[in-house]
Amino acid sequence: MIATRTVTSLLDGRPIEGAPVGTITIPNPAHLDETVAEATLGDAATFLDACSRAEAAQPAWARVPAPVRGRAIQHLGRLVEDNLEALSQLITREIGKPIRESRGEVQEVVDTCNFFLGEGRRLYGQTVPSEMPDKQLFTFRVPVGVAAVVTAGNFPVAVPSWYVVPALLCGNTVVWKPAEYTPATAEAFAQLILHAGIPRGAFQLVLADGQQTFEGIERALDGAVLDKVGFTGSSEVGRRIGELCGRHLQSPCLELGGKNPLVVMPDADLDLAVEGTLFSGFGTAGQRCTSLGTAIVHRDVHDDFMGRFTKAVTDAPIGDPTKDVLYGPMISARFCDRFERWLEMIRPHHTVSGSDGIGRITGANPRTGFVGDPEEGLYYHPIIVDGVTIDDDLNRTETFGPIVGVASFDSFDQAIDLANAHGYGLSSSIYTNDPLHVFRFRERISAGMVSVNNSTSGAEAHLPFGGNGRSGNGSRQSGIWVLDQFTRWQAMNWDYSGHLQRAQMDTADLDADRGFRLPSD
Ligand code: UN1
Repeated sequence: MIATRTVTSLLDGRPIEGAPVGTITIPNPAHLDETVAEATLGDAATFLDACSRAEAAQPAWARVPAPVRGRAIQHLGRLVEDNLEALSQLITREIGKPIRESRGEVQEVVDTCNFFLGEGRRLYGQTVPSEMPDKQLFTFRVPVGVAAVVTAGNFPVAVPSWYVVPALLCGNTVVWKPAEYTPATAEAFAQLILHAGIPRGAFQLVLADGQQTFEGIERALDGAVLDKVGFTGSSEVGRRIGELCGRHLQSPCLELGGKNPLVVMPDADLDLAVEGTLFSGFGTAGQRCTSLGTAIVHRDVHDDFMGRFTKAVTDAPIGDPTKDVLYGPMISARFCDRFERWLEMIRPHHTVSGSDGIGRITGANPRTGFVGDPEEGLYYHPIIVDGVTIDDDLNRTETFGPIVGVASFDSFDQAIDLANAHGYGLSSSIYTNDPLHVFRFRERISAGMVSVNNSTSGAEAHLPFGGNGRSGNGSRQSGIWVLDQFTRWQAMNWDYSGHLQRAQMDTADLDADRGFRLPSD
């Protein structure tokens, strides 16, 4: 039996005393009788306290030269790499992510650090010519201040690193509020961050529930000790955070839900498309924001595709996440409750396939080939729902779990309508070998991310990540693009002519002969 961890918020690197909102117990979703962590939760006052401490630490951190801040990110990357196995095992224990995927997730943190450690030596501004002589223009990137990062638990370290790493590198200080159901992983990652050489006050960890966090954000904004909010989670909460920040003239970085379409054209390599659909739809038990929502398949290849896809899902190993499985349990009980409600969106005109049953996998509702004992954890049957139409709730609702809709189309226009109808716009995919379809799809799809002959999920850590419509407010994470979230541009002009030169008024012009015309023959 592995020991239960006791974790709490870390303010200035020190665990806080007491539990204003009580203690929660986190079971291993693959072995419900095993307690992974006992976490004490802070409240809105804890959150406000963390922001005030981060605010006090920010000016000194911003004065540390950016290449030196980059060195902290380098230390963090190496620490994460050297602790990769322990952290991956903890993720698998706490949220049931298959161990290979957990290792991939931790690698994504290392990749993010590898990218940003070099950014410390760039963080480029520009020198810009002036319209005056003896005058020079410049731009500088200036840190925003205190960034609060509120993240979901399906990627308990990779997605937080997308915010925390660039935010710190740019000279901001950070308050991180991880998901309530991943406190052990969060505390472990926080310890690695705190051991990477940043000052104690530059990074604060607050364990709290959503309501207290929202109130804490509101109080921190009112008290002017919070300058930027980064949020990954549902569109509903994202909208509320957007409203709140908007009232304070702030623009949060929002990474919200998705209903990611995957279009299969008649010329597609069907085996490849099935492989991508399987991973997009059921990898991580469909609990990625980039997970496939609806496969949109041309009518000419629909039956062939469905035959192969159903076989692939039926044969896929599901179960114990420490083994080589397609997916393990749901992240936590609250995800099961929601998932069961979404199953009610299946209608009589739909055809269901992919497993021996629907709903929770148990001794009485078994799945052939299940890896391990399903009664020990929160396991769900994979489900393919064929016959989805554009107006179905199933085509409009993000379903965070192992369910994939399949819709058919005759014309490219219909495929695009189906792919955009839900109003989300995070990720998307098209399977085709026709460049015309590739570029038309890219142009007309609402999504911020487009895959060609590849899964909707599995974005690399240095391309812009983010969505449109119900998926976000247009902000982008990762790579150089996220720098615009955690810095503001400052423009400087320096006139060394020794006299006042008025822009637009004292500017020289050239004596052009604008009446000149070429002789016509
Ligand atoms: C998420 O689900 O919030 O592209 C992030 C992917 C991963 C990240 C997913 N690299 O699927």
